[in-house]
Amino acid sequence: IDPSEIFVSDGAKSDSANIQGIFSQDCVVAVQDPAYPVYVDSNVISGRTGLAGEAGYEGLVYMPCTEENGFFPELPDRKVDLIYICSPNNPTGAVATKEQLKSFVDYANEHKAVIFFDSAYAAFITDPSLPRSIYEIEGAEKCAIEMNSFSKTAGFTGVRLAWTIVPKALQTEDSEPGKAHALWTRRQNTFFNGASNVVQAGGLAALSKEGREQTDAQVAFYLENARIINEGLKSLGIITYGGGNAPYVWLKTPGGLSSWDFFDKLLGECHVVGTPGSGFGPAGEGFFRLSAFGHRENVEKAVSSIKESLQI
Ligand SMILES: Cc1ncc(COP(=O)(O)O)c(C=O)c1O
Repeated sequence: IDPSEIFVSDGAKSDSANIQGIFSQDCVVAVQDPAYPVYVDSNVISGRTGLAGEAGYEGLVYMPCTEENGFFPELPDRKVDLIYICSPNNPTGAVATKEQLKSFVDYANEHKAVIFFDSAYAAFITDPSLPRSIYEIEGAEKCAIEMNSFSKTAGFTGVRLAWTIVPKALQTEDSEPGKAHALWTRRQNTFFNGASNVVQAGGLAALSKEGREQTDAQVAFYLENARIINEGLKSLGIITYGGGNAPYVWLKTPGGLSSWDFFDKLLGECHVVGTPGSGFGPAGEGFFRLSAFGHRENVEKAVSSIKESLQI
């Protein structure tokens, strides 16, 4: 990757919302279901979809991530132009293997589709066999744009610092290599004046040897929180996913409750708040996300409360 292919920004959220803006209005968009809501909502706001129904927005291609497929989707069953993939995944905590990413890279190169790869949680990958970047996959530089962030790695959520990689080799269906890179350069230079110097100095400190030791320890701390949550829920017989290489635990609601009914139950009986899976897309119904981003005493208190008071 050449430094000119890396665009420093104020957030993976803004970049993943804005990136669709340099693509044609009639692009067909595929999203993992469930997904971080920005991917869907930015395309809705830009007018690429119809109305929302039970099955989601008209015109979007939903790629279900289920227990059966290990929360990584099958390839789209038709030609799509833009594909959003998030790994480690928010909300499911699933991490794509090299083989799984390779199948999407091959699909994208064959169909001249572009993959938007959100690796904001890459620092949470502890298994060395799992890819932290899509550019570990051969051919990805021709079809993939990657977003990453200091938010999760270094606790910069309120500070705001991130980066997006748009390779010059990236080729879209009706243009030459280099065109997408030039368009994103133009878009950012026109609409955005860059991340502040103060914040970038903080980013450099986070990347120093000492900074890396501290952020590695912080990531390990949150992974331990996830382990505590997973262990507590499993001791009650609740089926959980995620956690090992991600800061989210994705649980199957006990007794077939809807995501929102479980939200009410958890709040009412245990005084614990989490996120209903259905908020992330139709396939999230019947699931629930718990976050490991918290102080240890709060996590322990929440897990004890669930173990003592949840009526299942
Ligand atoms: C998948 C994913 N991408 C990006 C972000 C936001 O990153 P940033 O703080 O850099 O905008 C989040 C935060 O929740 C996220 O879950």
